[in-house]
Amino acid sequence: MPHLKVIPFDTTLLEQKVASSQTMTFVATSSTGKEMLIGVEHGGEEFLLQLKPDTDAMLLKYDKVTRPLKVALLKEAIALVAQELDLQILSSNIATTNTKTPLSSEYFKKIESFEGMVYPKEKLCVEVGFGSGRHLLFQAKKNPDTLYIGIEIHTPSAQQVLKQIELQQLENIWVVNYDARLFLEMLPSNRCEQIFVHFPVPWDKKPHRRVISPSFLEESMRVLKKGGRLELRTDSDSYFWYALETFFALPKAEVNVHKNEALEVTSKYEARWLRQEKDIYEVHTTSLQDSPCKEETIDFNFNGVKYIQGLEERLPLKALVFEGYFVHFERIYQISGHSVVIKCAFGSFDRPEHKYLILNQEGCRYFVSSPIKTSVNFQAHQAMVAQIMLAKGE
Ligand SMILES: C[S@@+](CC[C@H](N)C(=O)[O-])C[C@H]1O[C@@H](n2cnc3c(N)ncnc32)[C@H](O)[C@@H]1O
Repeated sequence: MPHLKVIPFDTTLLEQKVASSQTMTFVATSSTGKEMLIGVEHGGEEFLLQLKPDTDAMLLKYDKVTRPLKVALLKEAIALVAQELDLQILSSNIATTNTKTPLSSEYFKKIESFEGMVYPKEKLCVEVGFGSGRHLLFQAKKNPDTLYIGIEIHTPSAQQVLKQIELQQLENIWVVNYDARLFLEMLPSNRCEQIFVHFPVPWDKKPHRRVISPSFLEESMRVLKKGGRLELRTDSDSYFWYALETFFALPKAEVNVHKNEALEVTSKYEARWLRQEKDIYEVHTTSLQDSPCKEETIDFNFNGVKYIQGLEERLPLKALVFEGYFVHFERIYQISGHSVVIKCAFGSFDRPEHKYLILNQEGCRYFVSSPIKTSVNFQAHQAMVAQIMLAKGE
């Protein structure tokens, strides 16, 4: 990832340089005084750069939490900041190249883009954990009138399938590189024809990591239109029985079971199990009713929360664990005595959010963007507001 190694310089002059800069917006210093964050505005995007001491040098580097998707933008910003600060470069890896990364494909969708999304097709299907993508690509090719949203947590698999989408010139697949258990919350109610979950990892010893759970099922039923179905295929008989029990706990649903039913396309995992002559179980759960529309009650405002002197000393820096979510104020950076930047992690244990908060005398906001609108993030947000108020003595 882009960085420059530079000769140590006098950082006390940074604030003065920021004031006349075209690129830098603020500078914030950690409580140890050694690490700094530099706010940057470049190419229409806001993000942070980090300035850290290194052996006999300083590192000016990207910030993992706020980095823009376009690496070229990051490299340009690092070069501009180095130029404005007149830094003496010892080594660099920011030479710009024109190679297009697969995640910059138009078919790659960030989870944030699903807020208020307008779908280009009436018919929508979702595949959870598509792996090599054989089934997803096959379905999309066969049904050009349907939009297929593939969700895969493993980035190299998502990249491989994005390459295949380009090669096969398919225009009806979107790839989301995220945890499917949280992603479903972003979809509207009564919209999906089918949700495919083929050969999820059974996680025999870690049931909390399984895709199929009562809350996943509840969200699937909300997202599916009346008559739409969730299709689970598994080679694990214990996962099959566990899923069946979960499906039968639904108040109203049609559940069908098939054994060793061949599909038109065999996925990579299925091919392996078939070679080993394993049984394949398939469970279909059909939604039998319309679900209420999703209420938009999630609001990440900090209504009236403002910085007061000394607040940073009273914020708990240890992770706070609540039922189903956590909040962790990881590090606090000071901006010129009357504002702070707080690096925090929060939300679900499996897929935590990492964000910065900018807290000043006018108010508080997430930098650079609000968290993803999931219910656990909202619960965590409310807990963070409560902790800041507590630290203020309110
Ligand atoms: C055993 S593989 C099966 C892949 C493919 N469906 C097939 O049949 O060949 C399970 C896949 O699910 C993905 N996965 C596991 N948990 C996930 C989650 N919570 N959200 C999205 N993908 C997940 C894994 O990365 C992996 O690619």
